[in-house]
Amino acid sequence: MRFAGIMLSLFVGMTSVGFGGGAGVKDLSMPVKQYDAVAGREIYTNTCIRCHGIDGKGAMSIQLVPQPADLSSQAVQSRLDASLFKRIHDGKPNTAMGAWSTTLSDDEIWDVLAYVRTLRQE
Ligand code: HEC
Repeated sequence: MRFAGIMLSLFVGMTSVGFGGGAGVKDLSMPVKQYDAVAGREIYTNTCIRCHGIDGKGAMSIQLVPQPADLSSQAVQSRLDASLFKRIHDGKPNTAMGAWSTTLSDDEIWDVLAYVRTLRQE
């Protein structure tokens, strides 16, 4: 009986340490910022849709040289976040793609990029 009691308290001790450890690991992942594709869709509708179209494939009415990039395409979607961020932030010289850093904050650019990621074609 006494032995069983010791084993029981050991077991309880171990599980509480286990839970404590689990909570600690979870806390570490909390500060990671999640960008908001819903806020990004709002920005996209107001600022990007007139060239890139509702599905990212380009607006029908727009005639530009070069044409707006197809944001749903593999060519765009395979690029890294940092590279697309820079493109939206700084624009592309000698194209209609302007530098959005003058109108959008960095967080807004990340939000709109989160939305652009939802346009990926499977
Ligand atoms: C006035 C028209 C216009 C507007 C508005 C516009 N773009 Fe563009 N965008 C372009 C054109 C044109 C290109 C293609 C440039 C090229 O040929 O590489 C482009 C390219 C891009 C690319 C791909 C860049 C690359 O090199 O792969 C991304 C991403 C992009 N635009 C995102 C956005 C976002 C997000 C917005 C809204 C904040 C936006 N664009 C607004 C015209 C526009």
